[in-house]
Amino acid sequence: MKLQTRKPLADVRALAAGLIILILIVVMTAVSPAAAEDSASGAGVYKSKCQTCHGPDGGGTAVGKSLKVVDLRSPDVQSRSDAELSQVISDGKDNMPGFKGVITDDEIQAVLAHVRTFAAKGDSAPKKK
Ligand code: HEC
Repeated sequence: MKLQTRKPLADVRALAAGLIILILIVVMTAVSPAAAEDSASGAGVYKSKCQTCHGPDGGGTAVGKSLKVVDLRSPDVQSRSDAELSQVISDGKDNMPGFKGVITDDEIQAVLAHVRTFAAKGDSAPKKK
């Protein structure tokens, strides 16, 4: 009889512990990794959607150069505002396809943030004016 009364108590404890873990997981996935994931997904989006033309460092691939890509590391591009660049990414420009509807607005912002990381590395790149 004693065991019978202890068992439900253990169940309740296990349930409570499980619930606490569940809440922790929900809170953690909802809050903390979001910021870290943003840049990761920006890089991911870039790799899958932009790299074919712009190359891993933004300098442009052979395919991209045949389409007259601009060097994403260049001051010409980096000096443009976020609003201008995100508009090009969403609507396209000349041979650059628009990505509106292909990727989400959040992904456009994330991939733009990734494009911004090319700036510092562009110092040694040949300057085109
Ligand atoms: C099919 C090839 C291609 C793909 C894929 C591509 N681009 Fe471009 N991109 C271009 C070309 C070509 C230009 C030059 C457009 C112009 O200024 O004439 C360009 C220009 C740009 C510019 C500079 C805009 C400006 O006005 O200076 C940015 C920023 C850019 N692309 C970002 C991206 C991002 C981010 C992605 C992925 C989501 C991407 N591109 C995918 C071809 C491409």
